[in-house]
Amino acid sequence: MALYSEKVMDHFRNPRNVGVLEDANGVGTVGNAKCGDIMKMYLKIEDDIVKDVKFETFGCGSAIASSSMATELIKGKPVEEARKLTNQAVAEALDGLPDYKMHCSVLAQEAIEAALEDYESKQEK
Ligand code: FES
Repeated sequence: MALYSEKVMDHFRNPRNVGVLEDANGVGTVGNAKCGDIMKMYLKIEDDIVKDVKFETFGCGSAIASSSMATELIKGKPVEEARKLTNQAVAEALDGLPDYKMHCSVLAQEAIEAALEDYESKQEK
């Protein structure tokens, strides 16, 4: 069996929603100290809906595929749903990741959480 699924390879080669979202109102950056990979997530939230999302990932192929898939899973969805996105759901949507690459999907979940926290802190002000 191939190490990586077709979906992982597809999202690695043609990542969706890559780049900077100039009018984002929630931005989160997370990193993994062990591998040194960094992920930045931009959210544009309106009426409690994730209207747009983009990411920049400086990291491995699984991190790029995970962030790409994660953006697809939350785009157009209510904030509540985005908040509940788990790394397992990201990995499942990619038809699985090798065990030692599961932390790459955790990075995607954490980046979304960080961006949502940033959005919420701005609402309180
Ligand atoms: Fe660290 Fe993939 S090896 S995020």
